[in-house]
Amino acid sequence: MTSNKALSGIRILDMTHVQAGPTSSQLMGFLGADVIKLESPVGDATRGQLRDIPEADSLYFTMLNCNKRSITVNLKNDKGKEIFTKLIETCDVLMENFGPGVLDRLGFGWETVHEINPRIVMASIKGFGSEGPYAAFKAYENVAQAMGGAMSTSGLFDGPPVVTGAQIGDSGTGVHLMAGILAALIQRERTGRGQYVECAMMDCVMNLTRVKWRDHQRLEHGPLSEYGHQEFEDFTPRAGNDSGGGQLGNAIQCKPGGPNDYLYIVVQEHVWNALANRVGGEELVNDSRFDNINVRRANQGEMWDLLTEFASNYTKRELMGILNEINIPCGPIMSTADLANDDHVQLREMYVELDHPERGKWYNLGCPMKLSDSPVEITRSPLLGEHTEEILEGILGYKSREIDELKEAGAFSRPPRRQ
Ligand SMILES: CC(C)(COP(=O)(O)OP(=O)(O)OC[C@H]1O[C@@H](n2cnc3c(N)ncnc32)[C@H](O)[C@@H]1OP(=O)(O)O)[C@@H](O)C(=O)NCCC(=O)NCCS
Repeated sequence: MTSNKALSGIRILDMTHVQAGPTSSQLMGFLGADVIKLESPVGDATRGQLRDIPEADSLYFTMLNCNKRSITVNLKNDKGKEIFTKLIETCDVLMENFGPGVLDRLGFGWETVHEINPRIVMASIKGFGSEGPYAAFKAYENVAQAMGGAMSTSGLFDGPPVVTGAQIGDSGTGVHLMAGILAALIQRERTGRGQYVECAMMDCVMNLTRVKWRDHQRLEHGPLSEYGHQEFEDFTPRAGNDSGGGQLGNAIQCKPGGPNDYLYIVVQEHVWNALANRVGGEELVNDSRFDNINVRRANQGEMWDLLTEFASNYTKRELMGILNEINIPCGPIMSTADLANDDHVQLREMYVELDHPERGKWYNLGCPMKLSDSPVEITRSPLLGEHTEEILEGILGYKSREIDELKEAGAFSRPPRRQ
């Protein structure tokens, strides 16, 4: 382990699985923590989900589990529990996102973990937290988006609720969890004590839809003029691609009219004259329908039609060039193929080529946090149990004969089948 990273010296016992937890511990690995992924001998279910190459760990797994070591331990076996207890003693953080009550059933609730190691920070993701009417429910990404207010506010006004492509329920919660863990580690510096950090996916989605709660309360005082429609009830409606902010904005279709040939344009108040001049000359600049932000809001449908007509002469990149010249905030709708081949993305090291013994060349997304004193080096995801012996010997001090005995006693074998 190198010592020149922000989180060098922090050891994480990472029991997380699927997406919400692993995305969080992977970020901490990028920042230099020693992340020990503890899996049941069957492994994280995502290793085998959505496989593109037979027998190889899936991209679902590899893209969420870089910069980690893997140890397999059967926690339903007494010797497995013994190893787990020793690991808790040596780690700074324990992370998990099992269904409600799983760790308690295994005999390792927060009180027990805290007793074993009073300095450890234990961090959990649950769908709805550990108390309240929803506490006993499991959750996945779209369940959290549904229950946290994201789906009811996404999509076209007159269409069904829509999930966002950004994984705000899983990865969004993972980022919140990391923030909570780092805060708890800083507090530990002062108190010497660890604490329990819990993030509910529903709470995190609500936090990420914050501005929709602004609009919910504004509705008490009348319609929301920036929304492109005029009918309101007592909840924040879906807004399509309307900006949702203080400035008007929309996705405008460009040439040649493919699924992602759009440019998102924000019509800032103080850029209107320059934009109008470029699109329709003096006549549009002096058009009373668009004279100020209030009438532009009221007549935004006509304004978008005019911009769409202008945009039909250009590709999204050409139009971006034209509008950037006059300082209009705008951005092309980037497909994944656009991004994978984008010079800016390459320069920012956000799509990083890696090698893997089972799958060969593949790409992971890079670290979005750039620290001037903590260089990130992305290392491939571990194979199942790849570092079991290394960790048992190197961290827990077991001799190879003892490891054989643990194996014999079932500490690493498959747990009994679930009913
Ligand atoms: C994601 C989720 C729905 C998956 O549900 P699931 O596949 O039924 O898995 P659970 O987490 O409930 O249970 C895991 C099981 O594996 C067992 N297990 C986990 N690690 C083990 C180990 N090392 N050794 C032995 N058994 C192990 C647990 O004991 C549990 O078994 P049990 O049901 O007999 O108690 C659920 O974990 C959940 O709601 N998590 C919290 C919310 C969340 O993070 N969701 C986002 C996922 S991206």
